[in-house]
Amino acid sequence: MKGILLIMIIACAYAGSQLSATVGESCDKNSNYNVQSFTVTPWPIIRTQQYTILMTGVFVEKEYVEQLYFATRLNRGFWHYTYQTVEKEYPKNTQANFTISIQAPAEKGAYTDQVTLHRHDFSSLACWQYDYDL
Ligand SMILES: *[C@@H]1O[C@H](CO)[C@@H](O)[C@H](O)[C@H]1NC(C)=O
Repeated sequence: MKGILLIMIIACAYAGSQLSATVGESCDKNSNYNVQSFTVTPWPIIRTQQYTILMTGVFVEKEYVEQLYFATRLNRGFWHYTYQTVEKEYPKNTQANFTISIQAPAEKGAYTDQVTLHRHDFSSLACWQYDYDL
């Protein structure tokens, strides 16, 4: 019994030690999705570990989101893309959240991550980005 309790306390302490941070800035002047919060957990990002992004916001115009692109680059090099299917229509003034779970790279350096929302014709309607170092 005591052993289980101890494990539970350690598990809770561990979960509690995962810090989050609201990071980044918009990279689209004419965004049709107004980001309310953009949170990365854990922050700072840890090499090779899974991290989660929660983006919350409001669609200021009616939009159909085909895909979310997650792009990352090291030391201002080429962008590497990961795609997430959304295929959903959002009426004007709809509040909507997007979550992305991604494994952090192993290589040390200066990274930029960028999250964009895309229409059926591939054009983007929102862009948010942040920098971090590993
Ligand atoms: C989005 O996340 C926020 C904060 O966690 C929450 O208050 C809101 O209800 C969520 N919205 C939707 C549509 O799930």
